[in-house]
Amino acid sequence: MQAPAKIILLGEHWVVHGSKAVAAAVGLYARALGQKAEQGIVVSSKNLGIVEDLTSCHKFCNLWEAAQYIAASVSRKPWPARIHIESDIPIGAGMGSSAAVAVAFSACYAILGGIKPSLNLVLRAAYEAEKIVHGNPSGIDNTVSTIGGFVLYRRGENPIRLSNVGLKGTKLLIIDTGIPRSTKVAVDIFSTRLRALNGLGGSLLELVNKVVDEAIMALKEDDAAKLGLLLDLSHGLLNAMGVSHEALETAIHIARRSGAYGAKLTGAGMGGTAIALVPSEKAGIISSLLQERGFRVFEVEIGVNGFTIQS
Ligand code: MEV
Repeated sequence: MQAPAKIILLGEHWVVHGSKAVAAAVGLYARALGQKAEQGIVVSSKNLGIVEDLTSCHKFCNLWEAAQYIAASVSRKPWPARIHIESDIPIGAGMGSSAAVAVAFSACYAILGGIKPSLNLVLRAAYEAEKIVHGNPSGIDNTVSTIGGFVLYRRGENPIRLSNVGLKGTKLLIIDTGIPRSTKVAVDIFSTRLRALNGLGGSLLELVNKVVDEAIMALKEDDAAKLGLLLDLSHGLLNAMGVSHEALETAIHIARRSGAYGAKLTGAGMGGTAIALVPSEKAGIISSLLQERGFRVFEVEIGVNGFTIQS
């Protein structure tokens, strides 16, 4: 079982205040490998070096919630299982690593109980897990990891997987600055500035909606150059709202001057991660230039499928 990471393509922060955002599943994965067992629900994590029985959980109480949800959905008690988890997704980089683990785990646990892992079941079980990790999550991470592709998201509305979209001949570089950041602090700074702008703030929210609409159009027309322009514009606005960082600016400028279609921060900003949309043939060189400057870079496909089952 594998489930992908997500990135926010554009609309972060503005989405907190009601604008639209587009997120995408990207080709970094969490995997869950399961087998039936006689007793306990034993989860082992390669990355964290932890083995734990969920029925007396400390670290993986999120997964215990998911297991209970799945069992309750068929009016059964949770069944014993052994599940091994490993993940390529960097933790704490705003890429939905906990959600991807929860999605892969949920699908695996359902199958071990003889239940078909429908999109709805996996999405909801993973959301129960995410509530333990993030308190009151928007649900975008577990949704994108479950259904995959490009997802249009607006607070309070059902996320929509965009159809007939794609970007041929491109790669996405995910650039980890390694600078720790607090989503809460970034959201506070952004929100304070937005309030201080009064009516202008409302106009900016409208503008971002239009930028997102244009971006969806570019995705439908497979127009990477146009999308790149819109990514640059989105970054400019986020920068002006105080949520960029020197390291993000450095990474973004290296990517742009080396031939990226566009680059921007992704997620909360103030450190964390940037993305650069690049022509496939330039991905290697741009990635090397960034690595030379000390950035960790992941070269991934964008808009990949959601969770998949392998035997
Ligand atoms: C953080 O990954 C994305 C933000 O828009 C916050 C949120 O949507 O909850 C900054």
